[in-house]
Amino acid sequence: EKGGYKHFMLKEIWEQPRAIRDTTLGRFSLDSGKVYLGEMDIDDEELAAASSINIAACGTSWHAGMAGKYMIERLARLPVDVDYASEYRYRNPIPDRNALGLLITQSGETADTLAAQREMKNLGSKTVAICNVVGAMVAREAHGAIYTHAGPEIGVASTKAFTSQLTALFLLALKLGQLRGRLDKEKSVALMEELSRTPAKIEEVLRISSPQCEQLAKDFSNARDFLYLGRGIHFPIALEGALKLKEISYIHAEGYPAGEMKHGPNALIDETLPVVVLASRDESDPASKLRYEKTLSNIQEVTARSGRVIAIATEGDTTIGQLVEHVIHIPATIELLSPLLEIVPLQLLAYYIAVRRGCDVDQPRNLAKSVTVE
Ligand code: M6R
Repeated sequence: EKGGYKHFMLKEIWEQPRAIRDTTLGRFSLDSGKVYLGEMDIDDEELAAASSINIAACGTSWHAGMAGKYMIERLARLPVDVDYASEYRYRNPIPDRNALGLLITQSGETADTLAAQREMKNLGSKTVAICNVVGAMVAREAHGAIYTHAGPEIGVASTKAFTSQLTALFLLALKLGQLRGRLDKEKSVALMEELSRTPAKIEEVLRISSPQCEQLAKDFSNARDFLYLGRGIHFPIALEGALKLKEISYIHAEGYPAGEMKHGPNALIDETLPVVVLASRDESDPASKLRYEKTLSNIQEVTARSGRVIAIATEGDTTIGQLVEHVIHIPATIELLSPLLEIVPLQLLAYYIAVRRGCDVDQPRNLAKSVTVE
């Protein structure tokens, strides 16, 4: 059942190109430029009229939601709030009947997420679920479901479900962008084309970064702590990289917005601290270039204090290699899709470190695949 892989997690990491292809299958047309989200009881007018989006989710799905916020705000200029599902209900949310509730959950059975959905419905919102299990509770309770087609995920650490959720969120952002008159056909088709190139790019990342991550695991498996840094849409990926590492290798890890380091965490840096920095860039996008420049200065702040940097950078970037000890290159893509590539080496790094430490990768201590208690 592990298809020749040593663990389900590794199999599921390698399944990501397929999972993303399946999640996009039949969901858009390059001819018409249209997006088809499928199982929706909410019509286009209602979607177009949403005043904002409230996302609630847990763990990895929450990180997908954070990245989704950047996608939706950028492509549709619609405000998005992202809550931990376990917090949403208790923060006394301010009712807005025109806000659309969006639940993101692999299992569709997470108790906190279901409770947040109930609260949203009580406040008068319609809800949509991004879910990997057909017919799961969250989808039955929702007015619309966008299923991810990652296939069953067995490893407790979520991998292919995450990149499939990012794919579904990108499609939703496209749809909302079109409905709100922010994306014409030409722009939409260009974005769809880039999305359809993504699985092949992930295949390349897998091929190139696997041996690199295996090697890095040798150097870093004894570290006591790790930091993961990123800006903008790369920040939730830093959080997700850190979660993968703590969850399966039991090494303490923190994700931080790169620009916040000088406001405190810089004090942690010394020659024993590995710092993973997400530093990809999209040359054609001025905002991405600016973020990249700022990230380079953040890298220099770390190296000046002898921190050991592992950078994730775009192919063809020769600057970074001169600044840091280790670079993992990923293919160029548009910034909103870069998380799908960036997370792969972070999953592999966590995996190989956990294996070297002799941890039970598929069944980490104290954790369950689906968390049905609040
Ligand atoms: O099934 P869900 O997506 O609702 O699960 C949410 C979290 O419990 C889950 O993502 C958890 O954080 C993973 N173990 C992370 O790898």
